[in-house]
Amino acid sequence: MPAKRSTTIPAARSATRTAASDTSRRAASTTRRPARSRTRAASPDGATRTATSQPWLHQKGVVIQEFGTVRQFPIGLSYDARMYSCQRLNQTLADTQILHALYKKHHWLMRGATFYQLHLLLDKHADEQLELVDQIAERIQTLGGVAVGDPRHVAEITRIQRAPDGVEEVPAMLSRLLEAHEMILADAHDAAARTADMGDDGSNDLLVSDVIRTGEMEAWFLAEHLVDTPLVQA
Ligand SMILES: [Fe+2]
Repeated sequence: MPAKRSTTIPAARSATRTAASDTSRRAASTTRRPARSRTRAASPDGATRTATSQPWLHQKGVVIQEFGTVRQFPIGLSYDARMYSCQRLNQTLADTQILHALYKKHHWLMRGATFYQLHLLLDKHADEQLELVDQIAERIQTLGGVAVGDPRHVAEITRIQRAPDGVEEVPAMLSRLLEAHEMILADAHDAAARTADMGDDGSNDLLVSDVIRTGEMEAWFLAEHLVDTPLVQA
């Protein structure tokens, strides 16, 4: 919420202002900020206050925490442990955001006789991955870090290969998703062990109970669609 600004003009300044300076001041003020309607009203304590409901638009600010840094939170974890976990979790977060996007892409582009089943399955997995994205990001914030959020920043960090802009054959779509899963899972196993070594049980729990368990289950459901079984005759 913006700090209240006084609109009162000191009497001495007011008395010495010229019409010309008034005009230039108004012009400059219009350039800086849109005109806002203010009302003066008496509050319950008897004081007269100026109020406005005009939002402060088009604001710019400075970065108040750099990516790759952690703030000190009183959660019983060392700076090194929190820094390490944030770095590992940001990798998982970037890869998981890409996996979520791949699931949506393939949910949309699905083809063939099993279109409807896969269309629904991939959307379910996308929802689950999106839930993970939020959990991982908020774990990073809990540790005092900065979660990667902008998709262009995500693209710089992820190690998952970019899919073609066009449509691949269905088995290739599923293989691509499985490879992304395996990359995330292999990294999550390593990160889980190391974060536990550093004393960060919360990050270990998130990686094992959520990232790994969800990823393994989804990989199973995908892999079963790549078994070449006869549809009609054994
Ligand atoms: Fe959809």
